Amino acid sequence: MKILAIETSCDDTGIAILEAKGIKNPAFCVLANVVSSQVKLHRKYGGVYPSLAKREHQKNLVPVLKETLESAKLFEKTQSSKFKAQNQNLKLKTLKGILEREEYLFKELKVFLLKYKKPKIDVIAVTIGPGLEPCLWTGVNFAKALGFWWNLKIIPINHIEAHIMVNFIDQSQKSKVPLSSRLRRAGKSQKLFPAISLVVSGGHTQLAVMKNFGEYRIIGETRDDAAGECFDKTARILGLGYPGGPVISTEASKLQTTNAKLHIKLPRPMINSKDYDFSFSGLKTAVLYDFKTRDSKTRKSKKYIREMAKEIQQSAVDVLIKKTLRAAKDFRAKSIILGGGVTANKELREQLSKKIGKELPNVIFLKPLIQFCTDNAAMVAASAYFNKNQKKNWQKIQAEANLRIN
Ligand code: KG4
Ligand code: ZN
Repeated sequence: MKILAIETSCDDTGIAILEAKGIKNPAFCVLANVVSSQVKLHRKYGGVYPSLAKREHQKNLVPVLKETLESAKLFEKTQSSKFKAQNQNLKLKTLKGILEREEYLFKELKVFLLKYKKPKIDVIAVTIGPGLEPCLWTGVNFAKALGFWWNLKIIPINHIEAHIMVNFIDQSQKSKVPLSSRLRRAGKSQKLFPAISLVVSGGHTQLAVMKNFGEYRIIGETRDDAAGECFDKTARILGLGYPGGPVISTEASKLQTTNAKLHIKLPRPMINSKDYDFSFSGLKTAVLYDFKTRDSKTRKSKKYIREMAKEIQQSAVDVLIKKTLRAAKDFRAKSIILGGGVTANKELREQLSKKIGKELPNVIFLKPLIQFCTDNAAMVAASAYFNKNQKKNWQKIQAEANLRIN
């Protein structure tokens, strides 16, 4: 089964093609995974502007589709585009209707579809939420247009679930080894459920109990800012640019422990609260207060930036680890599954791995490959495989900005 997946929920335009085999123990092979990032554009504003992001998705989707098909070697020209165009007026009219709010995209896609053959794929998957509504709609309309033209079914996908399901893609993209075989080879149990999933991204911080594939119960969420949002906002205070997570992590790693310290101490919000919720806006405020008490020379100094970055990172990591481990113990989890852009953070990955090894040695720890942590469409395709029976009539598919996993 070959799945073509589309991701446009925020500021990354992603299209991927994934080949999946097996039902109980699926093995995946990523045939192509192309992401066109809008980071440079949004850097100017220090964050993502939905209407700007939508316009970029409209511009990027057809070139990204071409690159994806080329990379998967599924790209073939049709014989005579002139003849086809004459005979496809009715079809083109419907296509125009589907893309009536995506005028630029319609013009580009029309040329593309008349020029190239239907690729050998079996189904289309698209993120329908949660995310920025205008951006989600562009992806959804694009998927509908392709589904209609190529007569393929569409699987609607939840972005949060996709961040979790990307863990089932093989370690090596070329081989097709099911997760169960990889766990067996590593001498681990293959029983994953109940699992605790932690999704930490720019928009979400969410702990859920997974009873099985597709069966989630959210047990904790952020009450204000997401962890990634906290990295982004504090990096902005420090003048480090956007996105904040990678640059905070890089600055933190440059800190020489032997240097005289400024002794910055930030709070660990809600670390001891009895629930599984999070709160990161207080952390951002604490950074702002500290920043305001410093003179301009200190604020710009490497020492201050690095020490502050390290403390911001450690504060977030401490809270995320504490709550995740407590949830895993309370729900007797067999596995802990990570997902989302913030899980690219080296300290979070390493410190959580060590803590699990020490406190819950029998628990399986799954974290996505670094290239699959931030938004991409391979994760959407992996999730589609687990939702393959949910094919929906394309006319009924809608973007849902606040979609939940339970
Ligand atoms: O999953 P993602 O690509 O988009 C959303 O669904 O929101 O996550 C993006 C977030 C951003 O806030 C970014 O700052 C953060 O992930 N991020 C990181 C790292 N790389 C990306 N946070 C901490 N450490 C990183 N290395
Ligand atoms: Zn995401």
